[in-house]
Amino acid sequence: MLRALLQLRRVIPESTSDALLRRFWVRHWSRERGRETLKLGRPAPELAGSERAVLCEAVADSYPFLNVLEVGCGFGQTFDLLAPLFPKAHFVGIDIDAERVEQARGLAESAARTNVEFRVADAAGLDEFADDCFDLVVSSASLLFLDPARLASALRESARVGRGRLIFLEQHKEGAGLGQRSFENDTRGEYWIRDWRSAAEVLPGAVVNIRKVPNPLWTTERWQDLGCLVEISL
Ligand SMILES: C[S@@+](CC[C@H](N)C(=O)[O-])C[C@H]1O[C@@H](n2cnc3c(N)ncnc32)[C@H](O)[C@@H]1O
Repeated sequence: MLRALLQLRRVIPESTSDALLRRFWVRHWSRERGRETLKLGRPAPELAGSERAVLCEAVADSYPFLNVLEVGCGFGQTFDLLAPLFPKAHFVGIDIDAERVEQARGLAESAARTNVEFRVADAAGLDEFADDCFDLVVSSASLLFLDPARLASALRESARVGRGRLIFLEQHKEGAGLGQRSFENDTRGEYWIRDWRSAAEVLPGAVVNIRKVPNPLWTTERWQDLGCLVEISL
């Protein structure tokens, strides 16, 4: 169904196909979890129509794939949307925060997911994974917490374990170079606003495509201004 909608997007006006896609995610999510507020995270219908759905659409557009890595997976909400849609694929999430990983495992277990796995790891050192072992590497609102040196390592590592395709939901600012430190309005401390074309220069031959996500459901003004889908092909 999602694939058909994505095909349709190429032949009907974007606003119509966007509305259809949004309805698809809301229905899909409601079927999965019901409409009640999730214990962790945002209410289901809101999540389905949010920026995360944009990331998931880009992932769905990359099908076929057998395995997907999410760097900085948090509670595993991205895979909550993707795993049921692609039951034959295997989804691995890593996060540096052991507590979040534990919660992600718990939520996956309560939803009886069998094709997801969560591990504690640092994006800047993915030694436990072999070269080229993922078809796709994704990340959502996580790489902005890495300073320029650690981001360079995380990108090299993502490129090493992935087979040439990286898709990130991140903040992008033209001319910001490898990263401008920001403390604004974030309880998790500092984060980095960067120009993703500059950041991706550590990956020789990378082709970078940056698309603004014009989604009124972003949770903060900063994301409304700078939130982008960054697609890197190697
Ligand atoms: C804002 S949360 C986003 C979580 C998830 N991607 C989502 O969209 O719900 C950022 C996450 O990045 C993780 N993180 C920060 N630095 C990391 C690192 N060096 N390696 C792996 N995960 C990291 C944090 O622990 C946190 O779970």
